[in-house]
Formats: sequence, structure tokens, C-alpha cells
Amino acid sequence: MKLAELVDIYTIRYRSKPRLFRAPGRINLIGGHTDYNNGFVLPAAIDKEIWMLMAPNKLEVCKIYSHDFDEYVEFKRDDYRNVPYKWSKYIIGIIDQLSRKGINIGGFDCVFAGDIPLGVGMASSAALECATVIGLNKIFDLKLSDMDMALMAQKAEREYVGVNCGIMDQFASIFPQPGHLLKIDCQDFNYEKVKIDLSKHDLVLINPMVNHTLVETEYNKRIAECESVIEKLNNLGHSFRTLRDVSLGQLELNRTKLERNEYRRAKYIIEESLRVVKACDAIQENNLKKAGELMYKSHDGLQFEYQVSCKELDFLVDATMQHEEVLGSRIMGKGHGGCTVSLIESAMADQIVDEICENYLLQFGIKPEVYPVKLASGASESDI
Ligand code: GLA
Repeated sequence: MKLAELVDIYTIRYRSKPRLFRAPGRINLIGGHTDYNNGFVLPAAIDKEIWMLMAPNKLEVCKIYSHDFDEYVEFKRDDYRNVPYKWSKYIIGIIDQLSRKGINIGGFDCVFAGDIPLGVGMASSAALECATVIGLNKIFDLKLSDMDMALMAQKAEREYVGVNCGIMDQFASIFPQPGHLLKIDCQDFNYEKVKIDLSKHDLVLINPMVNHTLVETEYNKRIAECESVIEKLNNLGHSFRTLRDVSLGQLELNRTKLERNEYRRAKYIIEESLRVVKACDAIQENNLKKAGELMYKSHDGLQFEYQVSCKELDFLVDATMQHEEVLGSRIMGKGHGGCTVSLIESAMADQIVDEICENYLLQFGIKPEVYPVKLASGASESDI
């Protein structure tokens, strides 16, 4: 869809002039499931995004149209509990956060659309939350900082949508700069940009097009397992807040006190957070080969120790290993579905990806979807 078409839709519907806000989806090069354990992650914003057109309407009514779903909702600003449609929850979650904080907004008109594939690990919901919060912040001059908005968007997802998530996706939609990854320390929310030279490499996402159920249940189970490790270690006299405080040595010393799965989950998380730091060092030294090797190790841990992969995703990652032009590959997001992210030498990328997709089709009878992505900047207001 072209932006001009979306503006026309807005103007015909509301007969006023909107402002444009955009918020991107993300990849995560390495650092899977470390965010809710206060570890490090290394996401980046990508060139797939939500466009949100908005303006105050001087009424106490919020009017919102989703172009992609062709669905419209209208509700009184303080009466949003029974609004239908799943997508509206991400927007209302933000209104709810503002209201809980006693921040007043008026009614507004809104039309939005996007090209982030939904539910495949590219954080489309965080992008919708972030587009909403940066839009409302500007049109009502709320003077919220980027940090306030990222935290509020995460809370909207946890408290209103009801999905337990870490901080990565909302940070990755707001803070990144083009050409950079974002190294986030989820313990204190410090972040630094990490420049990556992708002049000779492509980042390609492959979606195996499988939808395993229980993604949320398994995600919550992993959170509970990590928390249980901390509780058990603390009952033995430690005072750890999260797995971020636990060293591999301390984990080994207490191995027999933990269930087998708890030990495996904790080992993966502690090692993965260390891998993020190593990957950042490698990228800063322009050693993408080393960073790629760490991505493979990350996948290995997600497959065997954290156990959030599935045979289709493993097939896609394994298939890349037969090509030395692929530096690294791993799954992203919650797991049990979603996409793989691969770092591939540009000259061979199309040929390799085509071959992998053909083999996948032969093996599973399903055609995967491929999304080449470029790094982009975080959410902002844009000219129309
Ligand atoms: C989802 C969550 C994130 C993070 C990833 C796994 O995307 O929203 O907070 O936990 O899964 O790395």
C-alpha cells in the first residue's frame, strides 16, 4: 500500500489533516529469551513498519480504523473495556496506561496499516503499541520521554493485552538508529548502539509457515522455570534477583539441587547473555564470521537446552550450515514457530535461500515465506 492511499482513506473518513507516525518491527540477532532474565539482547529495527495517521478530534471519542483488517472501532475515551477486535487491544493498552498514570488525552481520529508479518516473531504488536504511544504523545503534547514510552508500551502488553513479555521488542521499536544494532542491558535498561557493516552481507528471515499452538503457554512455562531456579538457589542462602546475577560456576555448584530442565534452562540463559556480549565485541571488530558462529551456538542452545524450537525451524537452520557463505542462523522470538534470521554473503544469498526453500518444500510440503530485511531507525513522526 502507498502512503498517499492511506492518507486519502483518512481524509475521506474524517475530513481533517492527520500527522504521520511510524514504528518498526525488529529482528534479534542474538540474545533469545534473555530479556526477562535481565540479561543482554541485540535487536535492531527493520524496514517493515506500522504507519499510523492521527489527529485530535475535539470530541471525547476515539475513532480507529485498521486498513489491513478493514475493521473500525469507536468508543468513548474512558469506556474502552468492551471494544472488539484483537488489534484494538494494543492501542487501548496504551490509552489504559495513560489513564492509570492520570495523563489526560482527548478523543482522536486514527487510521493505520503496516507491512510487518503478524505473529511470526518480528514484534508487530510492539510496533503497534509504540506507534500509538509516540502518536498520542505528539498530538496531545504529553512530553513523555522515549524511555517512558518504551516502558509504557511493554506494560500495555503485559497488563492490558495480557501477554507476559520482556522489554526487548518495545525498546527495539523506539531506540534504534539505521545501520546499527541495539545492545540492551535488560537489568538497568542501559543501551548502546552497535554499528554493523552489512555492505557485503544480507539479513534474511525465513518463515517456515507452521503455527504450533501453545506458544504462549510454553513461553510462560520458561519464565516460570527460570524463576523457580532463582527461588531454589535463594532458599539455599543466595540472594539472586534473576539469572543475570548467577554465574556458570554457581549454577554448576548447585546443579544437583535443580530439576534437569531447570538446570538446562538456566545454563542456556547464562551462556546466551555472555554470547551477546561476545557477539557485540566481534561485530565492533568487524568479525561477522565470529558473530555468525555465536548465532549458531545460540540456536543450538534454544533447540537442545531451552527447547523452544521445532523440527521445521531446525531444518531451516541446519540447511544453512551446508553453505559456507552463511555466517550464522538462529530462530527469533518466542519460538515454536516464527522465523529464522540468517546472515548471508550478499552475492550468494538469493541462490542459497531458494535452494533451502525448495528442500523445505520437498521435506514438509509447505512453501516458506522469505523476508530480506534492512536495518532501520526507531519510531518517529514523519512528513506526509
Ligand atoms: C518475544 C518477547 C520478547 C522476548 C522474545 C524472546 O518476542 O516479546 O520480550 O522475550 O520473545 O527472545
